[in-house]
Parts: sequence; structure tokens; C-alpha cells
Amino acid sequence: MTLRAVVTGVGHYLPERVVPNAEFEKTLDTSDEWIRARSGIENRHFAGEGDSTSSMAVAAATAALADAGRTAQDVDAIIVATSTADLTFPSSATMVQAGLGMTTGFAFDVQAVCAGFVYALANANALIASGQAKRVLVIGSETFSRIMDWTDRGTCVLFGDGAGALLLEAQEGTGTPADRGILATDLNSDGRHKDLLYVDGGSSTGTTGYLRMQGNQVFRHAVEKLAATAQTAMDRAGVTAEDVDWIVPHQANIRIIQGTAKKMNISMDRVVVTVQDHGNTSAASIPLALSVGKQRGQIKQGDLLVTEAIGGGLAWGAVVLRW
Ligand code: UT7
Repeated sequence: MTLRAVVTGVGHYLPERVVPNAEFEKTLDTSDEWIRARSGIENRHFAGEGDSTSSMAVAAATAALADAGRTAQDVDAIIVATSTADLTFPSSATMVQAGLGMTTGFAFDVQAVCAGFVYALANANALIASGQAKRVLVIGSETFSRIMDWTDRGTCVLFGDGAGALLLEAQEGTGTPADRGILATDLNSDGRHKDLLYVDGGSSTGTTGYLRMQGNQVFRHAVEKLAATAQTAMDRAGVTAEDVDWIVPHQANIRIIQGTAKKMNISMDRVVVTVQDHGNTSAASIPLALSVGKQRGQIKQGDLLVTEAIGGGLAWGAVVLRW
């Protein structure tokens, strides 16, 4: 018998305020045309006064629980992937636990920047496969608008806020790729590239800091590393590109998404794309895309999905799962 971590619910939350590219033309030497052409982004949502990383995570988790027909009392563990926790500590996950009214189980954050959701899924899978938890809420939630340098046109036009959540439940599988649930994971990091994407604040400065990125250098690594990690995860799962129904990539840049799909030999009509509407929401981008992809009628039960992401660290990885 193989224990599989099966998605039984999905949900998301996007803050009300939608910011089109044209907004940035008022204060920066940039244009809607440049942002669309270089990144594929048209709009992004920015958190309002009442929104926080933990409040958005609670909203997304509540939606995922409702989708699964479960309550917070059914959950054993919460993992929140975020780089923009409300406070340095406690973890966002414990705040979400309180927000959901859950007084049992355990909760912790995973910090792997834009690869955070893939890392969180791998952790949830390990908890379920080892029998330590039966039901795990896995949430990606970010308020990157709060760590932007609004004078830096190379970064502030790219990011957005939002949250997405999955409920994963232990179900018995056969150990074959026909099983529903997570079939394989692959995680990687290489700290030599830490200066390509970082926030210049923390305990070393006593400030929160702002995001700094050498975008074109990150870009240089992205397609190759994403295609390679996806291939490794597919090999481990015993599936090929032809078997894949949907790539659900981290939504940083349409050119990275297209380049990776091409390298994987998968056509763009099998890729869930939300970057035009959400911008780069870091660890929230994959669960947001999963939730929106289901709402659109793209992702259906039984579909074979590959998620892949890369971000600060550098950290990157992929997960193969059957929905
Ligand atoms: O999610 C975490 C991982 N992050 C990523 O995956 C992001 C990866 N990188 C990217 O998405 C792209 O590199 C960017 C969208 C950030 C930039 O696109 P690019 O094609 O790599 O452009 P570039 O950085 O090489 O910049 C080209 C030019 C520069 O001007 P010069 O030096 O050629 O005169 C920039 O100063 O574009 C300029 N530029 C802008 N112009 C108008 C940079 N930002 C802007 C802007 N508006 N907002």
C-alpha cells in the first residue's frame, strides 16, 4: 500500500484593489507596453489596509476547506509558504491556525521565496507519506507590495499580492502513476546565487528591507533549471511529457513560462497562465493558478499536473501530482 497526499480542496483569495500597468506610468519611467512585452503582466492585486499575509491565508484556507467539505477541526497540520510573514515570528501558520479556530495539530512556515509552495507541498507529502499527518492545509500567501522599493522600476512593476490553498488528504494508492495525489517531488537550491534576489533587511539590519533583484540574471537560470527539475520529478513519477495534462508553473514572467514549456516539449495550450492578472505573487502564484485553473474548467479530477518554480536562494523545484 502506498499512502498518497491527494488534493481534496482548493481555494484562493485576491485583494480587492486591482492595479493596471498604467498606474506605474504616473510615477516611473516605464510603460504598459514594456511591462507587457517583457513580463506578460497586465494587472496585479495589492493588499488593502485590512489585508495581511495571514488574513489572506485564512481566507484562502477557508475556501479550500469548504471546497473539500471539511472544517478546520479535521486538519492535522498547516504549512504556510511565505516570504512576507506578518511578523518575524511567530509563524504565519500559527496565526492562520488561530484564525481558523483550530486548537490542535501543528503549524509552521516554509521560506523558499518563489519556490516556497513547491517546498511546502514536498513537506506536506512527507508528513502524509510517513503517517505523521492525515490532512494538511498547504497555503501560499504573500504581500510583496509591502517590500517593494517604489522607485525601482526593475522590480516594483512585477509583483502582486494574494493567497491560494490546498487541502491534502492521505488516501491509499497502488504505487503507480495512475494514483491520484502527489507522485513525485524534486527540490534544489544553490546559495552561491543569494545576491541575485534578496530583501535587504532582517535581523542583520533591524529593518524589514526591500526586494532587490538582478532580474536578467535570475532569468538566465530560470528556464534551464525549471525544465531540468520538472524532468527529474517526471522521471521519478514514471511519467513522460506526453502524459502531462497541465503545467502549472510559478507565474513570474510569460517568457520564462513559454521557454520552460518549449524545453519540456509541451504546448502552451497545456499550461495554466495567470501572470497577466496576478503578476508575480511569489509562493502564492502556484496555488492561485491551481484554484483559478480549476474555476476556469481547465484542471479536472484525474488530470496529471506538473508544478515548477524558482526564486531567491536560488531555490527551485517541481512536483508531479494527479489532481
Ligand atoms: O519569481 C522569482 C524569480 N524572478 C524571476 O523569475 C524574474 C526573472 N526576470 C525577469 O522576469 C526579467 O528579467 C525582467 C522582467 C525583470 C526584466 O526583463 P529583461 O528582458 O531581462 O530586461 P533587463 O533587465 O535586461 O532590462 C532591459 C532594459 C534595461 O535598460 P538598458 O540597460 O537596456 O538601457 C532596464 O533598465 O529595460 C530597462 N527596464 C525597464 N524599462 C521600462 C527595467 N525595468 C523597466 C521598466 N520599464 N519597468
